[in-house]
Amino acid sequence: MKNIVVFGASNSINSINKKLAIYAGGLVKDANISVLDLNDYVMPIYSEDIQNQYGIPELAHEFKDSLRKSDGIIISFAEYNGSYTAAFKNIFDWISVIDRDVWCSKPMLLLSTSPGPRGAADVLESAYKRINHGNKNIVLAFSVPSFGKNFDEKYGILDKELLNSLQDKINSFTEAL
Ligand SMILES: Cc1cc2nc3c(=O)[nH]c(=O)nc-3n(C[C@H](O)[C@H](O)[C@H](O)COP(=O)(O)O)c2cc1C
Repeated sequence: MKNIVVFGASNSINSINKKLAIYAGGLVKDANISVLDLNDYVMPIYSEDIQNQYGIPELAHEFKDSLRKSDGIIISFAEYNGSYTAAFKNIFDWISVIDRDVWCSKPMLLLSTSPGPRGAADVLESAYKRINHGNKNIVLAFSVPSFGKNFDEKYGILDKELLNSLQDKINSFTEAL
């Protein structure tokens, strides 16, 4: 069995991206899914001064250890003002100073969704550019537009074409595990 870490890059309790990440994880055959919640990794806002004075918080090391122990990572990005949520960016900054291989060169599937028709495409594009640049393994990206219309809590993605496209990404991700 492969171990997949999944999380929504949001600190909302009812995060639609958390739902999408968990759903996508469920589409990976023969895998154990570990769901991370960003609310369990609340740390001071990253600052070089805090790092120099107090070191890197233990929570950042715990988060990074979860990535290191996994066989693959699925993240679904919420978009705030065209970019990452502050909750995600803070964790990203803290783990980025642990070592250069931020995402441990694991196979990664980057998703995004929003209530609107663009499906948080801007944050997904910048996440893909940034993460793909530093990762030695496969990085895939897929956005689900209009979450409320396209996703059902019980049945998942309703639109056949959209589901097929996501399944293609899941297949490529699974092969790389
Ligand atoms: C501060 C703030 C800024 C937002 N900015 C955007 C945005 O730039 N683009 C977008 O598509 N949605 C934006 N939204 C709406 C989010 O897509 C929506 O709240 C979504 O549910 C967030 O994902 P989550 O449920 O996984 O947290 C914003 C929401 C908030 C609260």
